[in-house]
Amino acid sequence: MSSSLPPSAIVRLLDEHVIGQEAAKRTLAVAIYTHYRKMEKAAVDLVEVAKSNILMIGPTGTGKTLLCETLARILDVPFVTADATSLAQTQFVSEEIEAILHRLLDRANGDLIRAQRGIVFVDEVDKLKASSGQARATSGESVQHALLKIMEGSPVRLGDGQHIDTTHILFICGGAFVGLDNILTKTHTFGFISTNDGDDQKILERLNARVKPTDLLEFGLIPEFAGRLPIVTRLNELTHDMMIRIMTEPRNAIYRQFSAMLHADDVELHIEPVVFRQIADLAIEYKAGARSLRGIFEEMMTDILYAIPDNPAIRKVAIASLFEPPRYLGRKESAVNPEKG
Ligand SMILES: Nc1ncnc2c1ncn2[C@@H]1O[C@H](COP(=O)(O)OP(=O)(O)OP(=O)(O)O)[C@@H](O)[C@H]1O
Ligand SMILES: [Mg+2]
Repeated sequence: MSSSLPPSAIVRLLDEHVIGQEAAKRTLAVAIYTHYRKMEKAAVDLVEVAKSNILMIGPTGTGKTLLCETLARILDVPFVTADATSLAQTQFVSEEIEAILHRLLDRANGDLIRAQRGIVFVDEVDKLKASSGQARATSGESVQHALLKIMEGSPVRLGDGQHIDTTHILFICGGAFVGLDNILTKTHTFGFISTNDGDDQKILERLNARVKPTDLLEFGLIPEFAGRLPIVTRLNELTHDMMIRIMTEPRNAIYRQFSAMLHADDVELHIEPVVFRQIADLAIEYKAGARSLRGIFEEMMTDILYAIPDNPAIRKVAIASLFEPPRYLGRKESAVNPEKG
């Protein structure tokens, strides 16, 4: 396992797959680094170590799951995601939690030692608000209680009689926490900070974005649960520019994927920059973060992927606008009119 990677190296590797979100990347990298360092130390000195689980707050489709997945891949540790909402919808929370840990063991190919150093990502913990009088099978609050037990570290008996110790498993919780900003603005006061020059403004913004445990309580997390998530990091809403970069820059960016696919048929894909801007515009309107990009892009490519196999003369496809049909070109840029199937 490459757990000895310094934080800067972790961030560089994350950069290859995740656009922006610098603050979250740094916080995650440092947290991961210290987590695995502490574990090594505990193994050598046989000391108890306090674990620092992480809470990631950010709007939908901004890279929370992607960051965790990428992180687990970089570290080469087993990784599973669990959905807090579905935990709250079952009557059998402890069985569900057991199943999650069982999946982690499967990801580790049955290697218990490896599984016990894995990462569990619990998404949508913001949906576990403690509120009274709900009709759901299990209240969010009792799911928080069940989760905090395993986050703390305890031996959990799996169905087949094995025990998995969660002490060194890193838990990363995620959620959109809609409405948290209102709580933050309400609870922050900076009477003593002058806001004249740019630097102070930056510090102010950072403090402003800082989430205090009490804010999480006001949001609806129970104190014990919030208390087990000492590291809180926030992801930003994606900007138009970030959306464009997401389509083109990461290693498996959607544009690269389709270019490679067409290239395999000896066809060049040429997309004007304005098209990426148009797609980003639409995606921002759909308000699902980067998640809508793929759908819009694939829709644009459907006719093209339909036409190419039937028209071997096509050597190049040029898209000048999302709202115009693509141009098909053959040898020496001659126009090709694809047969309609
Ligand atoms: N910062 C980013 N850099 C690169 N790609 C991104 C980024 N954010 C989102 N994406 C793309 O959007 C998809 C959805 O992102 P992801 O699953 O990480 O969202 P999320 O923050 O977990 O949202 P949710 O709260 O709905 O679970 C990813 O698979 C990825 O393709
Ligand atoms: Mg997610």
